[in-house]
Amino acid sequence: MKVLVTGAAGFIGSNLVHFLAQERPDWQITALDLLTYAGNLKNLSSVLDSKRVSFVKLDIADDKAMRRLFEEGKFDLVFHLAAESHVDRSIMSSFEFVRTNVLGTQVLLDAARAHGVGRFVHISTDEVYGSLGPTGAFVETTPLDPTSPYAASKAASDLMVLAACKTHNFNASVTRCTNNYGPFHFPEKLIPLFITNAMEGKKLPLYGDGMNVRSWLYVTDHCDALLRVAEKGTAGEVYNIGGSEDAELPNREVTFAILDMLGKSRDLIQPVGDRPAHDRRYAIDHSKITRDLGWTPRTPFKVGLEQTVTWYLENRSWWEEIKSGAYLSYYEKNYANRG
Ligand code: NAD
Ligand code: TYD
Repeated sequence: MKVLVTGAAGFIGSNLVHFLAQERPDWQITALDLLTYAGNLKNLSSVLDSKRVSFVKLDIADDKAMRRLFEEGKFDLVFHLAAESHVDRSIMSSFEFVRTNVLGTQVLLDAARAHGVGRFVHISTDEVYGSLGPTGAFVETTPLDPTSPYAASKAASDLMVLAACKTHNFNASVTRCTNNYGPFHFPEKLIPLFITNAMEGKKLPLYGDGMNVRSWLYVTDHCDALLRVAEKGTAGEVYNIGGSEDAELPNREVTFAILDMLGKSRDLIQPVGDRPAHDRRYAIDHSKITRDLGWTPRTPFKVGLEQTVTWYLENRSWWEEIKSGAYLSYYEKNYANRG
């Protein structure tokens, strides 16, 4: 089986490559990434020395390069994760989000169809559904109502994938997952940012009233769901992937849990101005993937968070290297006007 993973040097992509290398040892995996600010080859270093995983540095929006890659690669299966993924950056500037997430996805779809790829899994997000009130959960038929440029670009790419299924009989499925957490998570997102800031004795900038709710899924549980969708999912279908009930938490609670695990004071919390159009609550109804593919989230939030905190304690050089250089100017810009 020849498999392409795009966005393979990012957070979920690198965890997926590790997961597949372990679960499907006979697969030949091509790990593709442009190595933007969010991509890090170190995330793949332990699997790249095996002959079963190779790495290519390419841009998914480069039509010629993609056609050449697919011609030579003869892939049976594609997991498409490459994306610009951070809401705050999409608010600062949306151009790369449209280029990579929308145009890049279309380029991949065209190359995959032209070269007879048998199965394509498009990895998307629950953010395409917009924001929930205090009750209820997103189902696969919930209307798309994205509020950030990131979510809008993901919604557009989802629709292009589903259109390819309808128009060209292309064998693809779309997955929409809640917030992930775990090892190799870039420290601009809530959990890794707050763990590493707390370790450094820096402030934890909590947006708004800290009561926005996210449903958290340990990244390996997401990878397990993606493999099931690839192998047993149905073409043209959307699958919601979500955390367990104990993992649906306001940001304040997540922040307290991180500080408690690190033995740090809650005085480190700094309430700051809110994100524009900050989605109040996400919650996923994942009964379809449970019923059809037998998947459920396995890792309780407390266990997953302990594992994650331990990983950041043990891999200090990994994140210290990231939190320098260009990262500092992003940080300055994002948090400067929040009061
Ligand atoms: P990430 O930002 O950590 O990784 C994205 C990777 O894509 C990076 O390695 C980056 O270098 C690469 N990339 C960006 N532009 C590229 C281009 N033009 N060509 C090739 N590679 C490019 O993101 P992540 O958190 O690992 O998310 C992966 C996917 O999962 C995304 O599609 C995201 O929308 C989706 N998703 C993420 C979450 C989450 O909580 N992180 C939840 C649901 C869905
Ligand atoms: P984030 O990790 O950026 O994921 P997303 O916006 O895709 O859900 O943010 C998770 C939640 O944490 C979200 O409600 C915004 C909030 N947040 C903060 O309060 N402070 C921060 O510095 C960041 C990055 C996020």
